[in-house]
Amino acid sequence: MLSYRHGYHAGGFADLLKHAVLSLIIEYLKRKPAPIRYIDTHAGGGLYDIGGEMAAKTGEFAKGVGSLAFDDFPAQLQVYGSLIESYLSQERYPGSPLIAADLLRPQDELKLFELHTTEVPRLEALFAKDRRVRVSPTNGFQGLAPLLPVQHARAFVLIDPPYELRAEYTDAVACLKAAYLRMNNGVFALWYPIIDGAPHLPMLNSIKAFVDSKLWHFELAVKDESIRGKMSSTGVLVINPPWTLATDLNEAFKAITQQLPFDSVKFSAECVLD
Ligand SMILES: C[S@@+](CC[C@H](N)C(=O)[O-])C[C@H]1O[C@@H](n2cnc3c(N)ncnc32)[C@H](O)[C@@H]1O
Repeated sequence: MLSYRHGYHAGGFADLLKHAVLSLIIEYLKRKPAPIRYIDTHAGGGLYDIGGEMAAKTGEFAKGVGSLAFDDFPAQLQVYGSLIESYLSQERYPGSPLIAADLLRPQDELKLFELHTTEVPRLEALFAKDRRVRVSPTNGFQGLAPLLPVQHARAFVLIDPPYELRAEYTDAVACLKAAYLRMNNGVFALWYPIIDGAPHLPMLNSIKAFVDSKLWHFELAVKDESIRGKMSSTGVLVINPPWTLATDLNEAFKAITQQLPFDSVKFSAECVLD
């Protein structure tokens, strides 16, 4: 039985980093006409109510995307900013599959995995009329590798587990390794939390051991009384990032770190393998 519900966290600072990375990668891949296969191993419900009880309970949206000034948004993230703004005006925040679907083109396709029995029907309803999208109510860790390699297309994979169980750290490594060995020129993004005990570090080290192409870590750390005892840092590992990604994120987060209402906010971009 899964208990994690992304509605409590939608539009928080972790989503901001992850969805900034997601939208920049898609915009870059779209520079070429060849189709893109986007795979989201942990899709969530796709669209979240930011005026409802879940968002109010954690306050994460209010201190994340909800605190940003869209009239003064960094140019590098203009596409993400405009997209988000259009949903915020309806008191909604889009999840990764909806951001991807909105940014991708008719020739692209989306494969979405989700296991939660409440989120699956929401996801299916959201994309019922979108012929590019296939929703699988199955385990994304296991479903990813068989979808690769992609012939005559590029692949972009987002792996975004909730890390409710310690086993998910090793599952993420195994899943990413199996996928990378089948298509080592795909773009892979893995989201991770940075929490006490740093369980993400052995995971990142295990991934570094099998990757032999470009590998970057992008991290956002926040500090303040309101997040005492909660996750205060987050990261996204990217294999084969577009060459503009690190520069764009560095520039964009110079402005965004000024806007987020925490006592301290730090963005870092580390090239692990070049
Ligand atoms: C962090 S949320 C996803 C958020 C989404 N990617 C976004 O950025 O909007 C993780 C989701 O993974 C789902 N989940 C957990 N284990 C899974 C698995 N093994 N396969 C597919 N989905 C899973 C959970 O139900 C939850 O909705």
